[in-house]
Amino acid sequence: MSKKSILITGGAGFIGSHVVKLFVQKYPEYHIVNLDCLTYAGNLENLREVEDSKNYSFEKVDLLDTVALATVFEKHTVTDVIHLAAESHVDRSISDPLAFVQTNVIGTVNLLNISKQYWKDLEGHLFYHVSTDEVYGSLGEDGFFTEQTPYDPQSPYSASKASSDHFVRAYANTYGMQTVISNCSNNYGPNQFPEKLIPLCIHNIKNNKPLPIYGKGENIRDWLFVVDHAKAIDTVFHTGKSGETYNIGGFNEWKNIDIVRLLCDQMDEKLGQEKGTSQRLITFVKDRAGHDMRYAIDASKIQKELGWEPSLQFEEGISKTIDWYLSNEDWLGNVTSGNYQKYYSDHYQDR
Ligand code: NAD
Ligand code: DAU
Repeated sequence: MSKKSILITGGAGFIGSHVVKLFVQKYPEYHIVNLDCLTYAGNLENLREVEDSKNYSFEKVDLLDTVALATVFEKHTVTDVIHLAAESHVDRSISDPLAFVQTNVIGTVNLLNISKQYWKDLEGHLFYHVSTDEVYGSLGEDGFFTEQTPYDPQSPYSASKASSDHFVRAYANTYGMQTVISNCSNNYGPNQFPEKLIPLCIHNIKNNKPLPIYGKGENIRDWLFVVDHAKAIDTVFHTGKSGETYNIGGFNEWKNIDIVRLLCDQMDEKLGQEKGTSQRLITFVKDRAGHDMRYAIDASKIQKELGWEPSLQFEEGISKTIDWYLSNEDWLGNVTSGNYQKYYSDHYQDR
């Protein structure tokens, strides 16, 4: 069998960088090509541990540049794709939906087209799309998202991800492309850009700034440590069945306000502050437009069929995450300088 040359898109982002590191270190026999155009969310600092590895290459390419995409396929003889590159932040999708259509929809179709053209004989090549549980919409108090739950995306972000999932299935059905999709719940852990709830609160607690909780803080998310998601992607890539969808989640539902309280308590302890100090920073602000109430994943299919399960308890994962941010001040300082300041004041000043 010829050597695998796997194109991982979005490998400089939060989840992508964990996937790249796992594949480069675990599979020296593969060549891993990280394709990323380095938006505000992409950061090569996330990849220091593997940047000099023989089986790793980086290509700074935008998914919208089809000529450059085709060149990467030729240059690296790409055999498989794991597609993570996306605009990923719901709040940004509310203020600029078109950017999400461009990268998440058109970018995905560009990648599907190049893969189809380059592979010709589609047998033996896998196109793996990494997607989100938000495509299923919002739950009430009961029930879980299963792989059979009808799509019902509610935000411009989730509409764009649902659309890209549909295109991936359409390429499997129409052209016989071998595809697999996984839909995962909220990730947390090292290297997450501090626009998302958990790293934003860690950063603000550290700097004694208000902790903005949308609405009443009663919205519920299911949380999974990012390394567990990367391991699930490894499992699905190697043992998932072509044409299938796998839900990935932590069976770990939390109300936003309870997560923020947990962060405050753990941070008080780690910073040597009196218990209750950080909770005084909690500030209820104007709700997110169209805010989905609850996400909860039924991950029993991937557990039963592929044997994957989350390894880390939430409190332990949060503790590891805080420790990472506290000992990587330069990383946090770099990503929160410049444009972040403008994003933060534009987004939070009138809430
Ligand atoms: P992220 O925003 O941290 O990283 C996205 C990466 O994609 C960045 O490195 C960025 O530079 C790159 N990128 C964006 N537009 C690009 C373009 N046009 N061309 C090339 N590269 C481009 O995202 P993340 O949180 O790591 O999410 C990765 C994937 O996983 C996304 O597809 C997202 O929808 C999905 N997902 C995320 C979560 C989560 O909780 N973060 C959960 C489930 C699924
Ligand atoms: O469910 C998977 C999805 O999880 C991924 O597909 C997305 O890429 C990822 O961004 C995440 O989406 P959320 O919108 O759930 O994540 P976020 O961290 O932005 O928000 C988590 C919850 O916290 C949500 O209910 C909104 C709330 N929130 C968020 C921010 C940024 C606040 O209350 N205050 C905030 O400042």
